[in-house]
Amino acid sequence: MTISSGEIPKEDQLDKHKITHLLLDLLLAGIETISTTLEWSMAELLNNPKVMSKGRAELEQVIGKGNQVQESDITRLPYLQAIVKETLRLHPALAVIPRKAEADVEICGYVVPKGAQVFINAWAIGRDPSIWDNPAKFRPERFLESNINVGGRTFEFVPFGGGRRICPGLPLATRMLHLMLASLLHSFVWKLEDGVTADTMNMEDKFGLTVQLDQPLRARPIAIN
Ligand code: HEM
Repeated sequence: MTISSGEIPKEDQLDKHKITHLLLDLLLAGIETISTTLEWSMAELLNNPKVMSKGRAELEQVIGKGNQVQESDITRLPYLQAIVKETLRLHPALAVIPRKAEADVEICGYVVPKGAQVFINAWAIGRDPSIWDNPAKFRPERFLESNINVGGRTFEFVPFGGGRRICPGLPLATRMLHLMLASLLHSFVWKLEDGVTADTMNMEDKFGLTVQLDQPLRARPIAIN
């Protein structure tokens, strides 16, 4: 690939090195976040069979048996959308969002000085009992009863951050998550690996670059829809 530099100052020119890093950033930011979120949503559904049945019933009614889910169908699947939101509430792929205080500011009686590094704990906000009723419970219905969304304007729910630095991959991520989850649910009947039940499966978090399942989910499709 050749890039014409024209009149752009040398330090602002895109060289191969910068492009490689940009693409690498996008790949790293995009792949692990989406795969982790999808794994958590399948784990939560296998852990909550009633929610799984309700999601499958919606797909069967809206899409119909034997038909494949298309991207354009997603707007007609409110319960599926609520499942994805509920997954992101309990399992935001990036648990903490970094910011720097632009000025001295007082929050809840504490002074945060200008220039301080601040971490917004999206994971803890999603589980705060003063915000969420019965926060540990995976209950997608809570999002059907509210207007809270992922756009970063409702501060009780910030899985993609907010403001100028909000995740630029948000539209791609939500499209992919809905489509992949809908296809998995509508195409197959799922079962946990032998010897594991909803009650015994490990739902512990493992905190790293992203918050993953401590033990990778092991599930298998037992029938084709
Ligand atoms: C479930 C999927 C994803 C989640 C939960 C997620 C979450 C986040 C969060 C919380 C931030 C920090 C936002 C802030 O500081 O306010 C972020 C930043 C970013 N995300 Fe995502 N993301 C996801 C998918 C993607 C995808 C698919 C891409 C690209 C293809 C992407 C690219 C980026 C980039 C480049 C940044 C840095 C933006 C900046 O610093 O200005 N993300 N993401």
